[in-house]
Amino acid sequence: MNRQLPMVASNSASTVLFAILLSAVLPIIPSSFSSPSLNASATIKAGSDTDLAALLAFKDQLYDPLSILSSNWTTSVSFCHWVGVSCSHRRQRVTALYLPDVPLQGELSTHLGNLSFLSLLNLKRTGLTGTIPADLGRLRRLRILSLFGNGLTGVIPSTIGNLSRLEFLILGNNSLSNQIPAELLQNLGSLEKISLENNYLSGHIPPNLFNNTPSLSYVHFGTAAYLADSAWHGLPAPARVFEPDVQSVIWHSTTYHL
Ligand SMILES: *[C@@H]1O[C@H](CO)[C@@H](O)[C@H](O)[C@H]1NC(C)=O
Ligand SMILES: *[C@@H]1O[C@H](CO)[C@@H](O)[C@H](O)[C@H]1NC(C)=O
Ligand SMILES: *[C@@H]1O[C@H](CO)[C@@H](O)[C@H](O)[C@H]1NC(C)=O
Ligand SMILES: *[C@@H]1O[C@H](CO)[C@@H](O)[C@H](O)[C@H]1NC(C)=O
Ligand SMILES: *[C@@H]1O[C@H](CO)[C@@H](O)[C@H](O)[C@H]1NC(C)=O
Repeated sequence: MNRQLPMVASNSASTVLFAILLSAVLPIIPSSFSSPSLNASATIKAGSDTDLAALLAFKDQLYDPLSILSSNWTTSVSFCHWVGVSCSHRRQRVTALYLPDVPLQGELSTHLGNLSFLSLLNLKRTGLTGTIPADLGRLRRLRILSLFGNGLTGVIPSTIGNLSRLEFLILGNNSLSNQIPAELLQNLGSLEKISLENNYLSGHIPPNLFNNTPSLSYVHFGTAAYLADSAWHGLPAPARVFEPDVQSVIWHSTTYHL
């Protein structure tokens, strides 16, 4: 898949455009969808009914105040044509769930863990509450996980540490608490970017956290306590520790302006 494509597009212009496209397109479409050639049981191939069940369970737990899912995620068409859903061409399995800045409001379904072909999950700023389901640790093909800017509470599930292909782990701007799990990054050898800032995490950076992250180039943990921590051992120098919109590098408690 094209890693440059949607994902961690912190580019607000693109997300605004996405939202505009959504609101412009949605009211017009439904009438054109009475085509008799579209038959759910015919278009949804064997093996993907698990994905369908997972997406419907995900939708069922969300308030969806603008009815974006309830108007678009209808079983009269294949879920591969649903807004925010991308599929693999051959198998018709869900590879991306991409709904940044769409107001969803609610809790994440544990059934998301059944989307076993998922590579990209971006639900940035969608009004999510509740905890991060440990079941997300079953998404072994996941490369991009962004839950930035929601109201998620509880701990960072240690099962995230099973996502061995993960490249981007973006959990900043939530209400996550407790400590960073000690083994969180041990099997995440492809990790390039981690964002945990603006949460209520406590404790210290676990020793050896960065022992197996040779590609890590962006770390944002945010709090002063972490920046003063001596446990940056193993982080490939010069890894960059950014504050948002501040062009500086913090390494061993020293700030380097760029
Ligand atoms: C959908 O397609 C299947 C297989 O072609 C057929 O058996 C079924 O009757 C169709 N259902 C509807 C509602 O048209
Ligand atoms: C759902 O949204 C997608 C993407 O915007 C669009 O192509 C599709 O026609 C919509 N379907 C319905 C039933 O509104
Ligand atoms: C999907 O996930 C849920 C919760 O994790 C589980 O209870 C269910 O049995 C799974 N399988 C299917 C086919 O839905
Ligand atoms: C997933 O993570 C949990 C908790 O860290 C661990 O107990 C379990 O063995 C892991 N499973 C796999 C398949 O790696
Ligand atoms: C993240 O949260 C902080 C503190 O609440 C806020 O100042 C900042 O604008 C947020 N960042 C983004 C990109 O939304």
